[in-house]
Amino acid sequence: MSSENKKTIFSGIQPSGRLTLGNYLGAIKNWIPLQDEYDCYFCVVDLHAITVKQEPKELRKNTLEVLATYIASGIDPKKSTLFIQSHVPTHVQGAWLLNCMTYMGELSRMTQYKDKSQKSGANIPAGLFNYPVLMASDILIYDTDLVPVGIDQKQHLELARNLAERFNNAYSPTFTVPEPHIVKASAKIMDLQEPTKKMSKSSDNPNSYILIMDEPNVIRKKISRSVTDSIGTVNYSDDQPGVKNLLNIISVFENKTTDELVDYYKDKGYKELKEDCANAIINELEPIQKRVNELLDNKKELEEIYKEGSAKAFKKSIKQVRKMHKKMGFIPN
Ligand code: AMP
Ligand code: TRP
Repeated sequence: MSSENKKTIFSGIQPSGRLTLGNYLGAIKNWIPLQDEYDCYFCVVDLHAITVKQEPKELRKNTLEVLATYIASGIDPKKSTLFIQSHVPTHVQGAWLLNCMTYMGELSRMTQYKDKSQKSGANIPAGLFNYPVLMASDILIYDTDLVPVGIDQKQHLELARNLAERFNNAYSPTFTVPEPHIVKASAKIMDLQEPTKKMSKSSDNPNSYILIMDEPNVIRKKISRSVTDSIGTVNYSDDQPGVKNLLNIISVFENKTTDELVDYYKDKGYKELKEDCANAIINELEPIQKRVNELLDNKKELEEIYKEGSAKAFKKSIKQVRKMHKKMGFIPN
């Protein structure tokens, strides 16, 4: 099937730090099987990262590492379009147009904004408030059908859907209303130290997350120190969030149901559960880490991929931005 007849997928990750197991399982790993059936756009959303302060040197490094991780994990640049958001100006163009149709009320209800703005002190950047509009633009300018994300992005995606409908009603049908694609077992990988919170790359405690690039011995240590409970038997229950999280992780890596795993561990303890979990993570991540390092050692290959990707992304997205301009009454140039 040619890319014109395929449905479109868009997703992205912020290079606001190094990627965690949550990013890998909640996002990247779910993108891989979608590449044949869909016309996929996978973006490193660097413009989103600056909604919180970034060190320029770190931002540069993390942006390339995120791109290299996409490729090393199995996103094939021959099948999917891989690019860096700031290289494609249509994202910001679309964002301004949509900004003028978004209500302050709906942005102030975003839970991620409420959490992050609390950490910003007295001076909250306007970008942090407006960020979901840029995300809506990312999605809508590709006329996206499906957005594979972790569950924490559901509220932002709802805004993109509302804006698509609002634009369609205000002018004429222009956008497909995008659907979320959320895989249940990996939708929310939990913090290893506080398993009722999501695992996040912005946590202050490195023991609370696993980085995709963590060395095997570090992964073993972090998993063995992860918080469980005093119940002592392996069950898949909200009363045992730490154990539940480990079971979820093993289940996605080993393609087993959590019921099968609970049955397997019924006479075994947490020590074995943790060892198996660490091994499952390491088995999958080690070859990826090797490939990421190779790609980062050869920036030329990465450069070719992101340059070709941004040209393709621009070509597709400018069509939709031109449509928006025309319908809103701008004079074509
Ligand atoms: P971010 O790191 O906020 O840019 O998130 C990038 C992608 O990873 C989004 O699709 C998130 O939903 C997903 N993600 C981030 N953290 C987790 C987590 N702990 N569990 C599952 N998915 C996650
Ligand atoms: N906001 C997303 C996050 O923090 C990242 C993102 C930006 C995104 N634009 C997107 C995800 C478009 C999916 C589609 O995780």
